[in-house]
Amino acid sequence: MGFKIADRMKGLAPSGIRKVNEKALAMERAGETVIHFEIGRPDFDTPEYIKEACVKSLENSEVFYTSNFGDMKLREQVAEYLERHNHISYKAEEILITAGLSEAVYDVLCVLLNPGDEILVPDPVWINYLNVPRLLGAEPVCYDLLEENDYQPDIKQLEALITDKTKTLVINTPGNPTGSILSTKTLKEIAALVEKYDLTVISDEVYERLIYDDTEHVSIASLPGMKERTITFNGFSKAYSMTGWRLGYVAAPRELILELNKVHQHITICAASFVQKAGIVALRDESNEVENMVKEYQRRRDYAVEAINSTPGIYCLNPKGAFYIFINVRSLGIPASEIAEYLLEHHKIALVPGEVFGKNGEGYLRLSFANSYDNIVEGCRRLAEGILELRKQTGEQEK
Ligand SMILES: Cc1ncc(COP(=O)(O)O)c(C=O)c1O
Repeated sequence: MGFKIADRMKGLAPSGIRKVNEKALAMERAGETVIHFEIGRPDFDTPEYIKEACVKSLENSEVFYTSNFGDMKLREQVAEYLERHNHISYKAEEILITAGLSEAVYDVLCVLLNPGDEILVPDPVWINYLNVPRLLGAEPVCYDLLEENDYQPDIKQLEALITDKTKTLVINTPGNPTGSILSTKTLKEIAALVEKYDLTVISDEVYERLIYDDTEHVSIASLPGMKERTITFNGFSKAYSMTGWRLGYVAAPRELILELNKVHQHITICAASFVQKAGIVALRDESNEVENMVKEYQRRRDYAVEAINSTPGIYCLNPKGAFYIFINVRSLGIPASEIAEYLLEHHKIALVPGEVFGKNGEGYLRLSFANSYDNIVEGCRRLAEGILELRKQTGEQEK
């Protein structure tokens, strides 16, 4: 007698990123040295002042449930941060603290989507925005983010995809997996569309602090009339290198926060109490820790982009945010999943095939440069070697 698994699990594939990671880890257990370009997590330690705040909280025995909505001091601190940094005026009551942004995605989609509803999501996209709607019986409808359009959406296409069933629209800037940033012009066009069709926007800004070349990050909720229509997602994972701490937040109108809290309280009750205390200190006492990490990311990005673009047969755009490079490998004429497999097996570098993020990712590999500079230098050398071999095998070099 087996367990009778619910029908909703049928369309849910395991993460393609983890698949690559598992294989890389198995190779390491067998004695190989693999360079990890597959995982989207900062490699820096969490800044010391944040860790100290957590330890202090534990020493003070702050070990109990907090309010379901989150520690009021943290909610106030988040509201202050969003005002100062993102120019959006939220009250503390409009903030819900979650166990990472991943939980927030589930809470929000659970509250918004009925079975059969449609949600507009970018393609390529972080896969939770495909899988969570499916889990809820809703339909993710993809709009294109294409390299030739600098990964900005085509507003006409977006408009054409809106139907009576469209409930909401997801944007992610800076974006995973492309590292692109939506321009103010694009955001204004999306805002106009959202108003015209009376929609709402989910704006995932978890990478907002990781931006390069003096590029500007604009929160769509800061545009006139948009705060009431926007659910802003952010968290501590990427900016403060706190992926393991599981701390995120949602900022949205109060009536939505009340609904979200009903789901949130049944999933996690609250984020860990001492982690929330550390979150307060992370925002309040920050000096130049994030900027220092960003400088180092930029140095690595500059090296990797240059190395990739000097490798015949592949190229990439220069990502302006996050820590991902989306490498175009189409000219090799081999599926990206096969290229990724070849590079892992023969050159010991782990990259994610782009189709994991949607159909527009076919022909791309995602490289995460959240890895040491030395590993990036060595990894790019291995990448160039592997691509040269593949081109020899396909006869591309002679053309
Ligand atoms: C776009 C995007 N949103 C959210 C998350 C998850 O954030 P958290 O660690 O807060 O759950 C990720 C993680 O890779 C991501 O890429």
